[in-house]
Amino acid sequence: MDAGYAMKVLLIGSGGREHALAWKIAQSPLLTKFFAAPGNPGIAEHADLVGLDPADHPAIIAFCRKEAIDLVVVGPEAPLVAGLVDDLAAAGIKAFGPSRAAAQLEGSKGYTKDLCAEADIPTAAYQRFEDGSAAAAYVRQVGAPVVVKADGLAAGKGVTVAMTVEEALAAVADCFAGAFGAAGASVVIEEFLEGEEASFFALSDGETVLPLVTAQDHKRVGEGDTGPNTGGMGAYSPAPVMIPALIERTLAEIVRPTIAAMAKRGVPFRGVLYAGLMLTAKGPQLIEYNVRFGDPETQAMMLRLDSDLLELLAATAEGRLATVTPRWSTDSALTVVMAAKGYPGAYAKGGVINGIEAAEKGGGVKVFHAGTAAKDGGIVAAGGRVLNVTARAPSIADAKRRAYEAVGRIDWPDGFCRSDIGWRVTNG
Ligand code: AMP
Ligand code: GLY
Repeated sequence: MDAGYAMKVLLIGSGGREHALAWKIAQSPLLTKFFAAPGNPGIAEHADLVGLDPADHPAIIAFCRKEAIDLVVVGPEAPLVAGLVDDLAAAGIKAFGPSRAAAQLEGSKGYTKDLCAEADIPTAAYQRFEDGSAAAAYVRQVGAPVVVKADGLAAGKGVTVAMTVEEALAAVADCFAGAFGAAGASVVIEEFLEGEEASFFALSDGETVLPLVTAQDHKRVGEGDTGPNTGGMGAYSPAPVMIPALIERTLAEIVRPTIAAMAKRGVPFRGVLYAGLMLTAKGPQLIEYNVRFGDPETQAMMLRLDSDLLELLAATAEGRLATVTPRWSTDSALTVVMAAKGYPGAYAKGGVINGIEAAEKGGGVKVFHAGTAAKDGGIVAAGGRVLNVTARAPSIADAKRRAYEAVGRIDWPDGFCRSDIGWRVTNG
């Protein structure tokens, strides 16, 4: 297939990241028909929702055949790690996202650490353990601070940054006692890295690497980046901390060697590679990989993409990334996550949300749905992270002002948000 063709697309996922992708895909001149499974009420403004379970690969394949889908875009990591892209490929259906084997870069922390060792990629020194007493002995040997990680996918909860040996030993005991299920049967213990965290995103078709614009999220629930970790309380793009020299080092020392090492292993990585970095005194070091777009970073990044997202995703899936050049706005974008009170702990669902349309009247504002449901002709909260109020403007400070003005127009008594998204940029 060449550019200029028409495409029927199925998007897999239901969060704010997928709404942002859907909003951009819907603007593509290549698009002829658009479905999403399972989607959400925001995505429903752009695509026909289908009640398919992303874990039911035969049902997805049958749907793709019936509708003659040209490209499946997989948003979240779980279907990637479960091999949805492999099963689609075996049925002759093209998809954006890595194979099951390549998704091990997110699915197994030990896999990534071993790849880093093999390809000389800077990352925290580590050891892998399948046995609790050996892991505990190692913790006592290296001392604190030290980081204990369940090997597999643990919904962002499998990592303990331990400031004391006791804390680290407790984390090791938790993992081997089954606190993270099978994900914790294998444990990585690694050196504590100090510095500022940053995210880096690049597309790859297995060979070519195409860096995207920079973005940074806020993982902690509390003001000033304090309190428990969350899926992300806000994000902005660009991330000024990623100065050009750091981008170059990250590409040269981390991302390109990873793509080359995966190709050499016979496991080419096709999709978007999301590197979580620690910017240390020695330079950027890899904390972890994700094999999908960041959430909520994508919400900010998509507001800055001026060219066709669908063409980029198709070129990635078809191995012709070298032929495309995205156009990004020099504007900045910032997204504020509105979450249900109590998140990331227990929270109530079902609260009525008003004012989304009013919020979008601000100009340069887009409200993405993350955890909403349609009810009685209105919108109610249906998750922990519920809305992503996103604004584009000439600077991060202006985008922040616009986003918070829009937040002010949303009427949702059960919700809360951080008031300081972007503080490292706007205060510094
Ligand atoms: P992860 O689930 O791998 O993203 O880890 C969650 C968080 O733990 C990261 O965002 C970092 O803040 C922190 N973290 C992970 N590994 C390290 C490390 N080696 N040194 C310091 N902090 C770390
Ligand atoms: N923003 C964090 C994540 O997507 O994992």
